Amino acid sequence: MIHRCGTFVDDEGGTKREPAGARMTPWTLVYDRFDPVEERRRETLCTLGNGYFATRGAAPESSADGVHYPGTYVAGCYNRLTSRVAGRAVTNEELVNVPNWLPLAFATPGCAWFHTGTDTLLDFRQTLDLRHGVLYRLLRYRDGHGRVTLVRQRRIVSMADPHLAALETTFLAENWSGIMRVTAALDGSVVNGGVERYRGLRGDHLVDHATGRREAVTWLRARTSESEITVALASRVRTGAGPGEIVQAPARIATEHEISLEQGRPAVVTKTIALATSRDHAIADARSAAVRRAALAPGFGHLLARHRLAWARLWRRARLQVDDPAGARIVHLHTFHLLQTLSPHTADLDVGVPARGLHGEAYRGHVFWDELFVLPWLNVRFPETARALLRYRWRRLPEARVHARALGLPGALFPWQSGSDGQEDTQLLHLNPRSGHWTADNSHLQRHVGLAIAYNVWQHFTATGDLEFLRTFGAELLVEIARCFAGLAQRDPATGRYEIRGIMGPDEYHDAYPGAAAPGLDNNAYTNIMTVWLLLRARRTLALLPVRDRADLTARLELYPAELERWEQITRRMRVDFHDGVISQFTGYAGLLELDWERYRGVRRLDRALEAEGDSPNRYRASKQADVLMLFYLLPARELLGILRRLGCPHEPELVPRTVHYYLRRTSHGSTLSAVVHAWVLSRSDRPGSWRFFTEALGSDVNDVQGGTTSEGVHLGAMAGTLDLVQRCYLGLEIHRDGLGLNPLLPEPLARLSLPLRVHGAWLTIDVDHDRVLVCRGDDGPELLNVVVRDQSAEVGRETTCYFPARQRRRAHERGRGP
Ligand code: BGC
Repeated sequence: MIHRCGTFVDDEGGTKREPAGARMTPWTLVYDRFDPVEERRRETLCTLGNGYFATRGAAPESSADGVHYPGTYVAGCYNRLTSRVAGRAVTNEELVNVPNWLPLAFATPGCAWFHTGTDTLLDFRQTLDLRHGVLYRLLRYRDGHGRVTLVRQRRIVSMADPHLAALETTFLAENWSGIMRVTAALDGSVVNGGVERYRGLRGDHLVDHATGRREAVTWLRARTSESEITVALASRVRTGAGPGEIVQAPARIATEHEISLEQGRPAVVTKTIALATSRDHAIADARSAAVRRAALAPGFGHLLARHRLAWARLWRRARLQVDDPAGARIVHLHTFHLLQTLSPHTADLDVGVPARGLHGEAYRGHVFWDELFVLPWLNVRFPETARALLRYRWRRLPEARVHARALGLPGALFPWQSGSDGQEDTQLLHLNPRSGHWTADNSHLQRHVGLAIAYNVWQHFTATGDLEFLRTFGAELLVEIARCFAGLAQRDPATGRYEIRGIMGPDEYHDAYPGAAAPGLDNNAYTNIMTVWLLLRARRTLALLPVRDRADLTARLELYPAELERWEQITRRMRVDFHDGVISQFTGYAGLLELDWERYRGVRRLDRALEAEGDSPNRYRASKQADVLMLFYLLPARELLGILRRLGCPHEPELVPRTVHYYLRRTSHGSTLSAVVHAWVLSRSDRPGSWRFFTEALGSDVNDVQGGTTSEGVHLGAMAGTLDLVQRCYLGLEIHRDGLGLNPLLPEPLARLSLPLRVHGAWLTIDVDHDRVLVCRGDDGPELLNVVVRDQSAEVGRETTCYFPARQRRRAHERGRGP
C-alpha cells in the first residue's frame, strides 16, 4: 500500500524477525501505530547519526517524560560526576546527553500543544529509510474542536556534513483554516537519565548554559562540568513568514511562530541545526562555528540530496547481499547503525567503539573489548576508520603504561571500561535490578581488552597489508600489550609452568572462587592461550619491521633479548587446564557444581537471578557468554591446536567439538556477543545450530533479546558480529599476508551471498552460492579472477586461494615469465 500522503513505503509482509509493533521491508523499518510501551526501543532503533553525533528517534514534540527519551550524543564527549551510592562516593564517566536540538511543538487555535497521549490520533506512521538515512513521520489527528490536521516530518542527521541536522515539518489543515502555533526550541535542560538502573547516580553533566540570537539563528551553549567541553547548538527556522518571537531562558531558547494555514494547502516549517563542540577541528570556538554553519546551511532539499549521495557512497562499500529476505533486512539495519556510529567521519576523530553505539546511555557510552567484533568488518570495508579506532588506543598507550606500572607490570595494560582518556572507568558497584542490591563489581579484572586490541592490530595489518601502519604505531601497540601479558605470566617453580593469576575471563559470571576472600581466578584458558598467540605474533611483528625501524622501536622500548627469550619460554610453558577431556575455563573449574538448568530455563541473567536468591554463579559451571569458545572464534582450529601442541598439552582434533559442546550446554547467553560466537564455532560442524544462533544474534536488537536493553542503546558488537559472520565465517574467508583463502559453506537457508571487499588496497567482489564462487577484481566485478565449483558431496568446500598482484608477479617471475 502506498500511503495516502505519498511516503515511500511499499507493502511487504512481516516476518518473525520483526521488531515488536513494526514491520520491515528490505530498506525500511515501519511502525504503523503509536505504542507508548514500545516507544523507547523504537527511539533507539530509529536513531539517526553520522559518526560525529547521533540523535535518538524521539518525537520532536515530546521531552523526557517516562514514555519518550530524546537523547543526542557526540562521539567522544564524556564527563565525570561523583555521586553517593550505598553510602559511598562513586565517580563515573559518561557519554553526555548534550542539549536537545529536536523540540518542535504545534497547537491548533485555542488548544494545548499536540501530544500523542492526549489528542486523537487518526493515523500514525513512522518509517526509517535505511538506504537514505531519513526518518519519516506521519500524524493525522483531530483536536478537541474537531479540526483534522495532517503532519508530515522528514528528519536527517547529515552524513555529508557531520555538523548539520534538519527537521522538515509539513502541516496540512484538512477541514479548517486558521493559525497553527509552532514553537521550535533548543533545550539545554537535559540530563543523563535514560537508564533506569542508573537513576541513583547524578546525570547533571551540563553547566554554564547561555542562549542568544544572531540574525536569523538562535543558539544555545553549555559546558560539561569536569571535562569542560563546550557544546553549542545553533538553529535556523524557516516558515515562509517572519523569524518568529524569541522566548529565551538560560538553558532553553525557542522561536514561536504563527502559521496561517489554509484548508487543503500544505505549509512547511524547516528547522536546520548545527552542532559543534570545543573538541572540533578548524574552529575558533564552538558557538561561532555552530552559528556560522547553521546560517550558511543550504535548504532542506539540497541538504537531503547531499546526504543521500553520502549514504549511496557508503552503501556501495558496505553492500552485503544475502538472499534470505528476513535476514537481508536486518543486515541492512545492522550495517546502518554501525555506520551511524562509526562512519568515515570517525576516521578524523579521536574516539573508540562505544559498546552501545551513540544510541543510548547503557554502559555510559564506555568502550569495552567489543571492537574485537567490529574491526574485522571495518578492516575490509572502511580500513581508514578501523585504523583511526586503533590509533585511539595507541594515543592512550601512556595511560595504559601507567596502569601497568601501578600493578607492577611492564608494557601497557588497557582498562576494561574507558572513555575519554583511557583510565579505568569500570564501576565499582553494580545494581541488581532484580534484588535492588548494590553489589561489588569486579569486572575491571578482565584484563583481556589488550588481547582484543592486539588481535585487531594483527587483523588490520593482515587485511590491509599496510606495513606503514605497523611501522608508525601498530607494532608499538602490539608489542607493549605483549610485554604486559608476558609480565602477568609468572612461573610456578613447582611445575615450571607459567600462570596468570587473579583475573577474570570474558565470562562475567565468574569473578572469584567460591568463598574466597579476594576476587580473581587463575589461568583463564582464553587469556593464557591468547597470551601465547600474542607473544608469537609480537615476535613476528618485530621481524616484519624494516631493520632500522625494529632497532628504533626496541631501543625506545628498551626491549632486550632476555625479555624476548622469556617470551619464548612462556610460549612453550604456559599453563592450560583440562578436565573431562575438554579445556577448563580456569584452574579449579572442574570443582564447581552443575547448575540445575531446568530450574533456570530461559533466564539469561543468571547472575542477577542467583544473587537475588542469596546465591552466586561463582559456585556453578555456568557461563554468561562464550569464554573458552572465544578461542575457536578467533583462531583457526589448526592454529589453536598448534599452540596446544607447542605447550605440550592435549591437541587432538576431537578436542575442538568436545569443548564446544561442553560449554554450549553450560552457557546462558546473557550477552548478545555469545550468540555471534556460537554461530561461528558451530558453522562447520552443526549448520542448523549455527543458523539458529545467527538468527538469534540478528534479533539482538530488533527482538530485544536481552529483555528491555535495546531501549538503552543498540548492541554494536552483536550488530557488527552478524555482518562479519556472513562475510568471513560463512564465506570461510581467511586473509593471509599475500593472498586470501575462501572456503564457503553457506547455511542451508542462505542460497547466495554477494559482497565487495577491500583487501590489501584492492577491491574484490565475491559472489557465492551453494555451487560456485566467483571472485572478481573491482567492486563492480569487471574482471574475473577465479571460479571454483564446490564439490557438493563434501561437507567442507574445496578451498580456493586468490593471490594478490604482487604475489602473482612474484610467482610469474619465479616461473621465469616475470619482468
Ligand atoms: C558483556 C561484555 C561486553 C559488554 C559491552 C557485557 O554484558 O559481558 O563482554 O563487552 O557487555 O557490550
